[in-house]
Amino acid sequence: MCGIFGYVGHRKDAACIVLEGLKSLEYRGYDSWGIAVLPESGKSDGKIIVRKKTGKIGDATADELPAGSIAFGHTRWATHGGVTQANAHPHLDCTGKLALIHNGILENYHEIKPGLKKGGHRFISDTDTETFVHMVEEYSRNRLVSKAMQRAFNEVTGLNAFIILAARDKRLIAARNGSPLVVGYGDNENFIASDASALLPYTRQVHFLEENQMAIVSGAGIMIFDAKTGDLVEPHKQVLTWSIDQTVKGKYPYFMLKEIHEQPGVLAAIAADYTSQAEKLAATIDRSYGTYMVGCGTAAYACMAGSYLFSKIAKRHVNWAIGSEFTYQAEFLTPKSLVIALSQSGETMDTLEAVRKAKEKGASIYAVVNALGSSLYRYADHKMLIGAGPEKGVASTKAFTGKLAHLIMVAYAMEGSVKNGQKVVTAAAKSSQKVLTESSVRQLKELALKFRNVRHMYVIGRGLSYPASLETALKIKEISYIHAEGLAAGELKHGPLALVEKGTACIAFLPNDETYGANLAGAMEMKARGGYIIGASYKPHEIFDTYVHIPDAGEGTIIPNVIFGQMLAYELAVIRGLDPDKPRNLAKSVTVK
Ligand code: M6R
Repeated sequence: MCGIFGYVGHRKDAACIVLEGLKSLEYRGYDSWGIAVLPESGKSDGKIIVRKKTGKIGDATADELPAGSIAFGHTRWATHGGVTQANAHPHLDCTGKLALIHNGILENYHEIKPGLKKGGHRFISDTDTETFVHMVEEYSRNRLVSKAMQRAFNEVTGLNAFIILAARDKRLIAARNGSPLVVGYGDNENFIASDASALLPYTRQVHFLEENQMAIVSGAGIMIFDAKTGDLVEPHKQVLTWSIDQTVKGKYPYFMLKEIHEQPGVLAAIAADYTSQAEKLAATIDRSYGTYMVGCGTAAYACMAGSYLFSKIAKRHVNWAIGSEFTYQAEFLTPKSLVIALSQSGETMDTLEAVRKAKEKGASIYAVVNALGSSLYRYADHKMLIGAGPEKGVASTKAFTGKLAHLIMVAYAMEGSVKNGQKVVTAAAKSSQKVLTESSVRQLKELALKFRNVRHMYVIGRGLSYPASLETALKIKEISYIHAEGLAAGELKHGPLALVEKGTACIAFLPNDETYGANLAGAMEMKARGGYIIGASYKPHEIFDTYVHIPDAGEGTIIPNVIFGQMLAYELAVIRGLDPDKPRNLAKSVTVK
C-alpha cells in the first residue's frame, strides 16, 4: 500500500525526480515519506543520504537533498511500527551504503532479527523492514549485492516488494513477491515504481515484475531474472496508453472531484466501445456451471449490484462474495466454475487471495480490472479492462460506476441484446450528467452545510438501490468520517428504526422501478419517527424534506444514484475541512491481508 519511485540515469537531480514521482503516488500511502540519494562521487564518502518526514508529502521540496544521479523514495502506509520518522523508509544498513524501501509485511523477521543483532547489527526502527537491509548487508560481505539480496529474498516469508539502493554498484535492485513493482525503460536512464502511472512523464515502455522476479536497474539498462534460480528472464515490455492529463488534477482541487466529473464520459465510452467484450464475458458465464463474483469494499458492492442485474435482466443466478470471506465459501467450486474478480487496482490482496483459492479448486478466473498489468490482470485466465482511466482518489468513484456499466452490458448480452445494454448505460451517462450540473451540486452543498455536524446518517434502498445505499454510506464514512449506514429498507423495522430520532438524516433511493412503493414505505417509517428524508428520485413526493432529482435511466439509475452519493460525501468532507483524496488511516491500494 506504499508508493515507491526510483531513478537511476544521467540526470543529476535524481532526488527531485523521485520527489515528483512520490507526489504522484501519495494516494498509495501518506503517513510518512522519505528519499535516499547517493551524492555525486566524493561528496559523502560513498554514503547514502536519507531524508524522512512524518505526515503528507504536500509541497515538500528536494532542497535539503544533494545532487546525484541515483535515488529512490517511499510514501508509507504503516503496517508494522508506528508513524514516526525512524519508521519511515528508506532504512539504512550499518555502513550507510545500502538503503532499503519495502512494501508488504516481512512475516518471519522476528526469527531472523535476533541473529543479526547478535552479530552486531544496529537497529534503529520498530519496523519489520529494517531486518532485510541488515540481511543484505551481512550476505554482501562476500558476494555481489544482487546475489545477497537474492539470498535474503528467498529466506524471508510474506508478500513483499523490496528495493535496495546499492552505493557500491550504483544500482537499484528490486525483488517482488505479492506487492506490485514496474520498471520503466528510458534513454540512458531507467525507473522503478509501485504504479505505472507515475512513470508516464518519463517513459511509456514498461515491464511489470512477475512474482518472484528480481530486477537490476542501472542507467545503462535493466536486467530481469528469476529470484529462485538466478536465471535471466526476457522482459515482457508493454506500452502504457494512459495520457499524462489523466493522471493530474487539472482544474480540479481534488482527484476525487475530477474523477466524479469524468464519469459521464467514461460511461458513454463503455457503452460505445465495449459490446464485444460484454458478449465475450456473457458467453463465458453461459458456458460455466456456476459463476461467482468477488471483490472488496466498493468493488464488492459492484458485485452485489451485478447479482441483482444478472437476475433481473438475464434471469441468471450469479452469486457474489467479499474477497476476504470468499475462501470460507469456496469449497463447492469445481473446474467448471467461473470466478469474476472485480477490482480497480488489481492489487487488492484479499481479492487476489480469493482468486488464488478459486484457482486451487480449478475454477477459471475472469478479471474485470482497471489497472493494466496489475497482478490480477496478469493472473486471470480471461480479462477485461474497465477503461475508466487512472483513479487516484482513495475513494473509488469512476471505477465503480464503470464496473456497473460493464455488468449492465454483460447482463443484457446474456439476455441476447447487448444493444439494449448500450441504451441503458447511455441513459445512465446522461442522467449522471444532470446530477453533476451546477444547480444540482449547489443543492448538495446546501445539504452538506445542513448536515455537516451530524453524527449519523442512514441510506435506504431496495433491489439495486440496496447496493447503492451501501456504497453511498461507505463513501460518506470513508471521506467525511460521519458514521453512515446503508440499509435494505425492508430491514428497518427489524432493528435499525430504533436509531431514528428527530432530525436524523435519512437518504432514500426511490427509482422508477418495482421497489418504489416498498421503499417509500421505509422512508415513511423513518419520517414517522422524526427522520429528515432526502428523497433521491425521478419524481417528488410530499414526504421528502429535500427532493433530489435523479432522471430515470432504467436499471442504469443505480449509477446516477451513486454519483449523487459520491458528490454528497465529497461536499461533506470538504465542508468539514477534510482532504477527500487522502482519508485518514486508508490508502488507495490495499496490498495487505
Ligand atoms: O482496487 P480495488 O477495486 O480492488 O479496491 C477495493 C477496495 O479497497 C476499494 O474499493 C475501497 O473500498 C475504496 N476505498 C472505496 O472507496
